[in-house]
Order: sequence, then C-alpha cells, then structure tokens
Amino acid sequence: METTRTTTRKPFDLDQVIYLLDGKYPITLRQFFEGVQIFGGIGSGKTSGSGAAFARAFLKAGFGGLVLCAKKDELATWQRYAEETGRSDSLLIFDASGKHRFPFLQYEIEREGEGAGYTENLVRLFMTVHEAISRRSGTGSSDPYWSSAMQQLMRNAIDLCMIARGTLDVAMMHQVVRSAPQSIAERDDSKWWEKSLCAKLISEAHPKKLDKWTEYDLDTTVSYWLDEYPTISDRSRYNRSVFASGIRGAVFH
Ligand SMILES: Nc1ncnc2c1ncn2[C@@H]1O[C@H](COP(=O)(O)OP(=O)(O)OP(=O)(O)O)[C@@H](O)[C@H]1O
Ligand SMILES: [Mg+2]
Repeated sequence: METTRTTTRKPFDLDQVIYLLDGKYPITLRQFFEGVQIFGGIGSGKTSGSGAAFARAFLKAGFGGLVLCAKKDELATWQRYAEETGRSDSLLIFDASGKHRFPFLQYEIEREGEGAGYTENLVRLFMTVHEAISRRSGTGSSDPYWSSAMQQLMRNAIDLCMIARGTLDVAMMHQVVRSAPQSIAERDDSKWWEKSLCAKLISEAHPKKLDKWTEYDLDTTVSYWLDEYPTISDRSRYNRSVFASGIRGAVFH
C-alpha cells in the first residue's frame, strides 16, 4: 500500500524524507530518530558542514528539541539557523537572564509515573544538578562528609516543604535553610517563630492529618530543624551558594 502511505502522510510520518545527502541519498525521519553520528577530525567541518545541514533540515521539518550550548558561539549559531528557516518564533532561550526557567523540582514532583515526588528522588535530582554546576564552576567539594551532610540538609528541607505545602522549588528550599535556627537560643525565641519560613512550615505541617509514615517523616524532619541543626557548628553548616545556580541552553517548541 505504498501509494496510500505517501498520499495520506501525517506531519511526522517516519518515512518522510528529511534530507537528501549529496543531493541524492534520502535520509528519513526514522533514520534520524535511530541516531546520527558525524565523524571527522578536530576542525574538519562537522558542525559547520553536516551539523548545520541537518540542523536546518530538522528546523524546516518542524522539529522541536533541546540544544545544549557548551561552546560560547553555539547560541548565536542556532539563532541564525532559526532565522534562516523561519523558526525564530519557536526559539526559547534559557540563560542567566532568567527570562525562561525550567522548574526541575516541580517537574519531578508533577510528572507521570512511579516514584514522582519521592523525597529520595528529589534529593538525587538536586544533587545531580548541584554536582554538574559545581563541576563547571570549580566550587565543588569531593569530601564525602560534605556530600552526606548536604544530602541530609536537602532531604529535611524537601520533606518539610512537601509535607507542609505539597510543593517546593529551589527558592523555597533556600529560604527554609536561611531561616533555620542558628542556635538553641534562637529556636526558643518567639521572634524566630514569627519571622522564619522554617518555623512557619513546621507550624503548618503539625495540624495536618497525615498517614503514619508521613507522620514519622515529619517527626524526623522537625527534630532535625529544631534540635540538630541549631547545634551544628557554624563551620560545618552547609554553604548556601548551592542555591546560586544557572543552567544554559535553548529549546525549540
Ligand atoms: N569545506 C570547507 N572548506 C573550508 N573551510 C571549511 C570547510 N568546512 C568547514 N570549514 C571551516 O573550518 C572551521 C572548522 O569547522 P567546524 O567548526 O565545522 O569543525 P568541527 O569539525 O565541528 O570542529 P570541532 O571538532 O572543533 O567541533 C570553520 O571555520 C569552518 O568555517
Ligand atoms: Mg564542532
């Protein structure tokens, strides 16, 4: 039924020809989805030759996608491709200006499927993002003590936000850590209870009707914030710069 297939072609028909290699050898959508590998020595024209030709063909064919820009001029290159193929309106740029953001924790909480919103998965996701950023900026510490102390801090910040509000983002976690009691005296001060987000979330979580496991998690996290955290020495308290993060890239939609 070859004729039927060609006449009733859907926009993303896998047999659609996306590019003619050397002007004569067809490459179909299916073949592109199966993977493309461009070989060549350093500076041999991989990006400006085959790379550019395929990128334009993808954009012309209406593809969406995520382009990660490791090289400095990569964004300008893709802006040019978008212009040349009439796709400038589809370009969303994620950069330090913060015009667009990807709320990765929110996404992990709300996504379909098993394990969504689990504290351990959120901790792992946060740690992965943090490690990638600190590797890039060279601010990371390879000491396993810090890594485990940080995971404990993150786990407790996540549990507190999730139990009290059912959601969280990086700014909220940051605020919980910033407003956590720095000493037993501060914890016992009524001013701290009035002003601190950490205290507010503890007060919000307590009256909630919770199942026995969540109740257990809440007890653990409350005792971390009220008993353990105020007694850790200043030196070993976690470095808050973890929250100053940025991920660059461009997305076509
Ligand atoms: N056929 C060609 N003739 C002359 N110059 C070319 C040709 N193809 C590419 N160049 C030039 O060579 C330089 C390197 O090309 P390009 O960046 O595409 O290589 P690459 O293989 O992607 O390199 P890298 O390995 O660094 O990613 C560019 O300045 C490009 O304009
Ligand atoms: Mg290249």
